[in-house]
Amino acid sequence: MSEIGECIAFANYKGGTGKTTSCLSLAGFLAKGGSKVLLIDFDPQASATSGIGIDKLTVKRSVYDSILSLCNGYEVVPLRNVILETDVENLHLVPSEWDLSAAEVSMQNTRDKITLLRTLIRSIQSMYDYILIDTPPSSGLLLLNCFVAADHMIIPFDPGIFSVEAIDNLKAAFLDVKRNTGHHFNKITILLTRYVGQDPIERILHGDNPSRQVRKLLLRMFKSVFVVPESPEIYRSQQKGIPISHYAPKSKAGKAYKIIADAIKDETKLSN
Ligand SMILES: Nc1ncnc2c1ncn2[C@@H]1O[C@H](COP(=O)(O)OP(=O)(O)OP(=O)(O)O)[C@@H](O)[C@H]1O
Ligand SMILES: [Mg+2]
Repeated sequence: MSEIGECIAFANYKGGTGKTTSCLSLAGFLAKGGSKVLLIDFDPQASATSGIGIDKLTVKRSVYDSILSLCNGYEVVPLRNVILETDVENLHLVPSEWDLSAAEVSMQNTRDKITLLRTLIRSIQSMYDYILIDTPPSSGLLLLNCFVAADHMIIPFDPGIFSVEAIDNLKAAFLDVKRNTGHHFNKITILLTRYVGQDPIERILHGDNPSRQVRKLLLRMFKSVFVVPESPEIYRSQQKGIPISHYAPKSKAGKAYKIIADAIKDETKLSN
């Protein structure tokens, strides 16, 4: 595959839109298809860390230590020393921990404060085909570091009105990043998660349900939009700490994420 891993960030300012679920699911399917995948948990909530079956309490070193090591005066902790193997073949993890939320203070006083994550990733990028970053649901330096590190941005939306309201803020932030750093994404992909279908009679009687309304809106605004259905297996797979790719690949959500993973791989082939 490619000589340098493609870096994909999962972002939305709004919480609970399916960032972690999408990151874990696509990491699982890409790894299952034979690609070497690194999942970087860059959210202090560390949901991706537990979602892949790693007990947060057993994590000795996390991405927090590597980030701090780039801020003046801290012990050097290369990212490769933080990488953990997971139970999923071909899938490695850089875990997170709650302390990462405090890292912004040290980052603030560091030169190159928005390229710290990118610098860490560069040191291991040739070891992987894909590097997937799970980001926190907030604005600020942590998220900005993810924006600047990413080649490809995946934005998961849930079918709620507040999710739609976040679109303008995200677009403005991407423009800001481009203006201030020159960095732009090769691709932006939209995922409408927790999609609920609607039977035709109900639609005639009551009009489009929220899932259909939001889908229509997203299709008008973006070129690449995928839908991931609401699926109870997602919750169960996260309880077990196994990605849907390995827990229930034939579930509705599993099939949807497989299609998205295949599309990502096809595009990588085309661009090489
Ligand atoms: N397709 C789906 N079907 C059913 N449940 C889902 C689906 N996608 C996500 N969920 C559930 O929705 C909730 C939020 O998902 P997730 O944690 O991935 O969102 P998030 O954007 O990462 O949240 P945060 O902003 O807090 O990091 C979780 O409980 C998850 O299990
Ligand atoms: Mg999350």
